[in-house]
Amino acid sequence: MSNTKLYLYPVWLRIWHAINALCIILLGITGISMQYTNIESPLINFNSAVSIHNLVGVIIIASYLFFFIAGIISGNVKHYRLLFKGLLNRLFKQGEYYLFGYLKGEPKPFHITKEEKFNPLQKVSYVAAMYVLVPAVIITGVALLFPEMIIEKFYTMSGIRLTTFFHSLAGFFILIFLIIHLYVITIGKHPLKNFKSIVNGYHES
Ligand code: HEM
Repeated sequence: MSNTKLYLYPVWLRIWHAINALCIILLGITGISMQYTNIESPLINFNSAVSIHNLVGVIIIASYLFFFIAGIISGNVKHYRLLFKGLLNRLFKQGEYYLFGYLKGEPKPFHITKEEKFNPLQKVSYVAAMYVLVPAVIITGVALLFPEMIIEKFYTMSGIRLTTFFHSLAGFFILIFLIIHLYVITIGKHPLKNFKSIVNGYHES
């Protein structure tokens, strides 16, 4: 099969992606340090962790707004539109390929084109990350920065505790997404092939 080269990741998207990845990693490390390490011997000094977490949180809000607006202006958002008809079947096909077909050297069930740059599993996971989890972590994070916005009690539960719970839960799922994302991008002709794409913008197949 002949080699094809598609320009799928424009400069703005690559810059956004690098900033976003760095922010998520910093937020994850500082968040875990604040939540789970002992206050007497923390992973990162507690006050520094809070300051870094807040500052990076503000940067990721700006970066997300940029991703959201630039996606609409450039048309990149079309790659995130889910077609629900037959979706389960397509997800199953792609999952089967990642689990078995890829190891047996079978051809990919979906081919990347300019119009359809994500396979079904990528699409669902990117929609979940960018249009559910990141907004959820941002909304709950802003509420925690301005706790006077949060209702005092929801039934018998403290509003702040509930918001903290959903903030940590969304953050935890983003970290799970990141681990799966890092594994999936290594699948292909060469483990660094997809990484090269997000650096130079070109997808090669
Ligand atoms: C060190 C961390 C990361 C690396 C090395 C990485 C790598 C990559 C690569 C190679 C691609 C393009 C190829 C593909 O789609 O398979 C990609 C796309 C993407 N990544 Fe990441 N990623 C990282 C972190 C993240 C994080 C933290 C998020 C979101 C929370 C994220 C969200 C996305 C999205 C949404 C796309 C598709 C962008 C588009 O074309 O519209 N990535 N990433």
